[in-house]
Amino acid sequence: MNSLYNRDVISALDFDRKTMDYLFHEAEKIRQELEVKGILDYCRNKIMVTVFLEPSTRTRLSFQFAMTRLGGIVVDFGLEQAASIAKGESFEDTIRMVDGYKPNIIVLRHREPGSSRKAAEIASAPVINAGDGWNEHPTQALLDLYTIWREIKKIDGVTLGIMGDLKYGRTPSSLSYAISKYDDVKIYYIAPKELQIRREVLEKIDRRVEWRMVERVEEVIEELDVLYVTRLQKERFSDPSEYERLKGSYNLTINLLKKFKKLPIIMHPLPRVDELSPEVDSLPQAKYFTQAENGVYIRAALIKSILTE
Ligand code: NCD
Repeated sequence: MNSLYNRDVISALDFDRKTMDYLFHEAEKIRQELEVKGILDYCRNKIMVTVFLEPSTRTRLSFQFAMTRLGGIVVDFGLEQAASIAKGESFEDTIRMVDGYKPNIIVLRHREPGSSRKAAEIASAPVINAGDGWNEHPTQALLDLYTIWREIKKIDGVTLGIMGDLKYGRTPSSLSYAISKYDDVKIYYIAPKELQIRREVLEKIDRRVEWRMVERVEEVIEELDVLYVTRLQKERFSDPSEYERLKGSYNLTINLLKKFKKLPIIMHPLPRVDELSPEVDSLPQAKYFTQAENGVYIRAALIKSILTE
């Protein structure tokens, strides 16, 4: 049943498996209903405010489309540079003020790890974390698992490779937390040593998931059901020379993939930079654009579950 009513969504660890399975089925229902009717009325007279204080394309748009498709109203905070934050207003004051306008739901992206939790303490409206710095991106994890569930028809027993910038990326941590709620999952963390997954992530999943770190995708690719690629998180490097040094240290190309008889499905939260070549797009295993599309349905399922009993 719906356990999300009126709740904040701060970490992917907040979801149990029953809740995620429930959301996948809700997303399927909404998808079918939208094929018949372009706009539904589950969230009529409800207002969602999107406060994105870091760049975003897919997450912001798919939240806005999701709420619009549910018949709700969307207000966007706009660019940080155009708001009073540019005049020195504190994060706390901004959130208090936004909440004072009585939105029914606040979707927040901010560069500071822990910012969504802080906002949830201040605001009376439910807060959804749409990315807090390098820390977490729980709704991306939902759409990632929803894509695996649709493509592979199961999540239990899946062998997943997560490749790229696992140190500064927030999607690898949230995906690890969410998938750890399923049984017999194996994760290969594929990255140069400098970019390997953060200790705290491993500590949180350790007893539930079998995991291993490797440096090169070739070592494990034929064992994988899913290969999840992520970009180097340029904006989070404090030392630009470290970024330059690691740039190009991993790259999935068609020539590399052609060497293998069996390929996993290939996912990526996007945007890609140069870690995933565009020629890979033509393979039947390339699922990243489907994955992005799935974001609207799973976010609609989430918003509906938070706003309606
Ligand atoms: C991701 C993010 O913002 O963390 N993008 C997204 O939400 N689709 C991944 C990234 O920026 O690399």
